[in-house]
Amino acid sequence: MQSSHDHNRRAWDRLANRNAPHTRAAADEAFRNPLQHVDGRGWLEGSVAGKRLLCLAAGGGSQSALYAAAGAIVTVVDISPVMLARDREVAAERQLNVRTVEASMDDLSIFAEASFEVVIHPVSTCYVPKIAPVYREVARVLEVGGIYISQHKQPVSMQAEVDPSPQGGYTLSEPYFREGPLPAVENSLHREPGTLEYLHRLDEILGELCRSGFVIEEFSEPPHADAKASPGSFRHRSLYVPPYLRMKARRIGKKVEQRAKVWVPG
Ligand SMILES: C[S@@+](CC[C@H](N)C(=O)[O-])C[C@H]1O[C@@H](n2cnc3c(N)ncnc32)[C@H](O)[C@@H]1O
Repeated sequence: MQSSHDHNRRAWDRLANRNAPHTRAAADEAFRNPLQHVDGRGWLEGSVAGKRLLCLAAGGGSQSALYAAAGAIVTVVDISPVMLARDREVAAERQLNVRTVEASMDDLSIFAEASFEVVIHPVSTCYVPKIAPVYREVARVLEVGGIYISQHKQPVSMQAEVDPSPQGGYTLSEPYFREGPLPAVENSLHREPGTLEYLHRLDEILGELCRSGFVIEEFSEPPHADAKASPGSFRHRSLYVPPYLRMKARRIGKKVEQRAKVWVPG
């Protein structure tokens, strides 16, 4: 049977070949002040110059190129070879040094412990059935004191219908406590067509992070709502359900007990 990883690799290859949203290279404008563009809130403390930085599940020639332009020593990991080819193209065009690695975010065994000082992880944990193995791998490859910035789909956004109800809101039609991939949807910027997506509860997104040896230092719900947007649009739905949550976490000097998946004070 085809795994969800194989399924999503193919789906993202197809999306990238169609130049779909989230598969496009950063625009010229973004390179005027690349760090400001990717870190408007200053969570990276003003500079990434010279830092060993992993762009995790971040192919497509956007994040990798911008962080490299900001001076970081960038490695980008993605499961989709087509997305990674775009990173290489953009890096070559802009004469940037970017290393690309094809791997799944829940198996970073290609990297040694403490290989990175910063991990940047755009929305993508929805493509793996379980989030804890991802956090365990990030904890392993990030050095103690390192910064982990990740963005995730809000679980409530995964529960809600794509189209508005006759009453005007968005019905919660999927249970919060559920197993397996979500039913497919089309024509929504909140979901990517052809992919298998999983709802992760807050206990997994936030709790597992804390249990994996991180402390959360910052948290935001990136604003996308617009009260004047037309019903059914991305911005209108975002008025009812914030689509994403974003966190800055720091790797602390505690040991992670792999087998029991518990955080052991040490
Ligand atoms: C929403 S895109 C994020 C990157 C994009 N540059 C952006 O606009 O932010 C999600 C990415 O996750 C990647 N992906 C999906 N499943 C993955 C997995 N198991 N391991 C690594 N990457 C994965 C996809 O190939 C895609 O490039």
